Amino acid sequence: MNDTPRSVVIKGTGSYTPANIKTNNDLASTVDTSDEWIFTRTGIKERRIASEKETASDMGASAAQRALEAAKLEASDIDLVIVATITPDMPFPSTACLVQTKLGITNAVCMDIEAACSGFVYIMEVAASMIRSGRYQHALIIGTEKLSSILDWEDRTTCVLFGDGAGAAILGPLETPGVGLLDFTLGSDGAQGDVLYMPGGGSANPATADSLNDRLHFLKMRGREVFKLAVKVMEQAAQEILEQNGLEPDQLSCLIPHQANLRIIELLSSRLNVPMERFYLNLEKYGNTSAASIPIALDEAIRSGRMASGDYTLLVAFGAGLTWGAALLKTP
Ligand code: COA
Repeated sequence: MNDTPRSVVIKGTGSYTPANIKTNNDLASTVDTSDEWIFTRTGIKERRIASEKETASDMGASAAQRALEAAKLEASDIDLVIVATITPDMPFPSTACLVQTKLGITNAVCMDIEAACSGFVYIMEVAASMIRSGRYQHALIIGTEKLSSILDWEDRTTCVLFGDGAGAAILGPLETPGVGLLDFTLGSDGAQGDVLYMPGGGSANPATADSLNDRLHFLKMRGREVFKLAVKVMEQAAQEILEQNGLEPDQLSCLIPHQANLRIIELLSSRLNVPMERFYLNLEKYGNTSAASIPIALDEAIRSGRMASGDYTLLVAFGAGLTWGAALLKTP
């Protein structure tokens, strides 16, 4: 064990979204909604939907392959794989183990961590700490979701919000101090668990004919309450991590928020007093992809040159649990 503090940096990122696009107008042909209602309340225009056979591990593996290429690393360089998902291929084995096999990674510790839409920020801190310990060199972290498999396509209050996709990053050490993943703040409040959850399919309500009839295997949400909690905890996490690091919001060059709802992000922008142009947004194209939302946006932001050397970037998320978290990055 080597306890020398070292920087942990992003070596490469990748993302994958299914080709099939479902627009708001497509949805309006199956449930009582409209493009105007969805767009004005959420900022979403369309989302991607995986094919019937495509799984969370398939999408995760595709995103991870692109991250490996960007990092110029091989499968054999990876010694840790962590996946964040609420839509694993199956309850077990872990989606991380399934991705491992798909990519031919033979010498790695693999696990899933579930923190819903905050999942990617959570696994980033876990992987960064494990690398900092000196025991692990290169972590592959993936957020991947096939939310279309747990949506009630007859419930207009939820099905219009979400989509499928995956994003990945390779994390590794750098001896230069003071760059990369500078700091994290994470939080949870289980007392708020009933605002967003899926009651069926676990040990509380295993799959039975009754549980299926009662539609327990679909996501349930109290949208208004989630909205208010989201604004509160995202602002709190952002303020906390800035204070911890002696930074002002204005010093952030780029903010990558969980892409759930444009109205939530606009409120965050006004409360932090950071202009909307600094926020990286793609929810118009993908909707809310839960644990995949931040890594897809991170990959797009990096590839489009939004994170220049020396820039501070803030990742900030909230999700079911309730969970929330923020990560502060400084591009090397
Ligand atoms: N199309 C048309 N009408 C809809 C609709 C849809 N897709 N969904 C709901 N409505 C209706 C409701 O039935 C309600 O009608 P009523 O007044 O006749 O009862 C009306 O629109 C207003 O519903 P309400 O839920 O109060 O709307 P809202 O302004 O709060 O917006 C959300 C709903 C879901 C867009 C908003 O609450 C939200 O984004 N919450 C956060 C959700 C989220 O981010 N979840 C993921 C967390 S990781």
